[in-house]
Amino acid sequence: MITTLGFDVYGTLLDTNGVVVTLSTMIGNQATAFARTWREKQLEYSFRRGLMRHYDSFSVCIRQALDFTCSLYQTPLDEAQRTLLLKTYRTLPPFPDVIPGLRQLQSENFRIYAFSNGSADTVEKLLEHAGLLDSFLGIISVEDIRSFKPDPAVYAHFLRKTGATGGNAWLISSNPFDVIGACSTGMHAMWVRRSPEAIFDPWGIEPTLTVPSLANMAFQIQEFEKRRQMLS
Ligand code: 2OP
Repeated sequence: MITTLGFDVYGTLLDTNGVVVTLSTMIGNQATAFARTWREKQLEYSFRRGLMRHYDSFSVCIRQALDFTCSLYQTPLDEAQRTLLLKTYRTLPPFPDVIPGLRQLQSENFRIYAFSNGSADTVEKLLEHAGLLDSFLGIISVEDIRSFKPDPAVYAHFLRKTGATGGNAWLISSNPFDVIGACSTGMHAMWVRRSPEAIFDPWGIEPTLTVPSLANMAFQIQEFEKRRQMLS
């Protein structure tokens, strides 16, 4: 039974702190806090739009969250600076473990997809710029169903588009909301806990597995599958 993996993109494959260097040239030492608020607000906008059934692209959430964060931090960045920041968000760097980790998974015959709130076109450009595009069989975007993670419909959409079932599909994400969303629909989910300070939400729904990076992910999944078969 071939296992299908759906990789979250922002924060899992690509480092959203990739904007901090450019931001630092504009607002100095507020850059790290500004970038964190910007990321949290863009996710909040996606949650609200999903709940309201008031869809617009994740790129719109990112842009509107930037405008909000500029107001909150009272940093009057001009149009040129905001355009540069949005461009930087479309060219985020991969984490160091991602390219070798994906290569190892490909060699172990996993079916690998990118699975994101981002539109297919935006994600394709992001992955191409990061040198990752060839690692994936395809890109599954929530735009097809005009909602956002963690709407159960987006995980069902992933399974439908990839032909996988919950039992042989994994969501791989650094975002606890995404991991809880996928587990709640019957998929396996791996939490990529990139920082020891990262906290998982105390909902009583735990990741299937937790790893610090993409290194040795194939082995971790294979060991899990072996244990599961022994118990069945
Ligand atoms: C994603 O890439 C927003 O990280 C989330 O879907």
